[in-house]
Amino acid sequence: MKDYRDYSLLSYNTFGMDVKASRFLEYTSVDELVMLLSECRNDKPFLHIGGGSNLLFTSDFKGTVLHSAIKGFEIVGETDSYVDIKVGAGEVWDNFVEYTVCNGLYGAENLSIIPGEVGASAVQNIGAYGVEVKDIINTVHALCIEDLSSKDFTNEECCYSYRNSIFKGDVKGKYIVTYVTYRLSKIENYHIRYGNISLELEKKGLALSLHNVRNVIIDVRHSKLPEPSVLGNAGSFFMNPVVGVEKFDELLALYPDMPHYPFDENRIKIPAGWLIDKCGWKGKRVGLAGVYEKQALVLVNYGGATAGNIIGLADEIIKSVENRFGVTLLPEVNYI
Ligand code: EPU
Repeated sequence: MKDYRDYSLLSYNTFGMDVKASRFLEYTSVDELVMLLSECRNDKPFLHIGGGSNLLFTSDFKGTVLHSAIKGFEIVGETDSYVDIKVGAGEVWDNFVEYTVCNGLYGAENLSIIPGEVGASAVQNIGAYGVEVKDIINTVHALCIEDLSSKDFTNEECCYSYRNSIFKGDVKGKYIVTYVTYRLSKIENYHIRYGNISLELEKKGLALSLHNVRNVIIDVRHSKLPEPSVLGNAGSFFMNPVVGVEKFDELLALYPDMPHYPFDENRIKIPAGWLIDKCGWKGKRVGLAGVYEKQALVLVNYGGATAGNIIGLADEIIKSVENRFGVTLLPEVNYI
């Protein structure tokens, strides 16, 4: 267990903001969490973080920050077709993906090297290359902050949708995720149509296998997304906007090459990166902040940028996309 005062959060946020928490607590078990919460749950403000890959700290955090170091993988169920693995919320997400690939289990490979931790995967419903983590979540184990009782949320109870869950909605700030049980398939099955994954396999002359899919996805991500240790960033800064059919038809008539994906019966998802790129922002640098040169959806800290610099740039981008397309971008990153 850790209990520090005036603790630097530099290694707990991938944007590289050099801020401090008045108090920083880290626990390694549910018992330790219960003990800490009984003492600090009324501290205000109070924030639970994961790997900090989706946060933008706007100043020092004058309150208590909690972080899970609950680790471990445990097989809790198995049939001929699947394996249920219960994973500590403080495990690094990609360690889990690597474990599944090395053990011949299908379902997590498309989510390779997404930064962050297991607990946040279940809150954020992380997704990439046609797969969302909701597709492999069986149960989310959580602790109620108010009465310290344990609660298991079934997949349905988590109310998953695009980058969203009950933990960001109805029960926001009320529960802490302690473990997640994922259900992985033992039966060979891939999702390679999205984002040219099959084309990349072909180009490289690689056979279809879990390891090869993981490696291709790692290569594609490395080629498009900056490494946070080199260039501070939080992955996609904005969510891909979802528009109604009418708005979509109007835009498609003007921009027939506009990429788009079906969202539900009446709505279509448009890549924010394409909209931002079309407005001429890709690769633009404004002082110490900028728009990444290979992916317009990612804002970067060239070193020493303040959150104000990043948010100022994000606001400019939102305005110009609104003016040109009449579509409002929403940040995916949380401002703290
Ligand atoms: N595009 C451009 N210019 C750009 C960026 C994208 O024209 O600068 C176009 C691409 O050519 C493509 C389309 O926009 O036609 C979509 O781009 P891409 O496939 O790179 O994916 P994305 O929609 O930008 C989403 C996720 C990523 C995830 C990728 C791959 C969101 C907000 N982002 O990005 O997730 O890795 O798909 O599946 O949904 C993250 O959440 O941090 C993240 C990186």
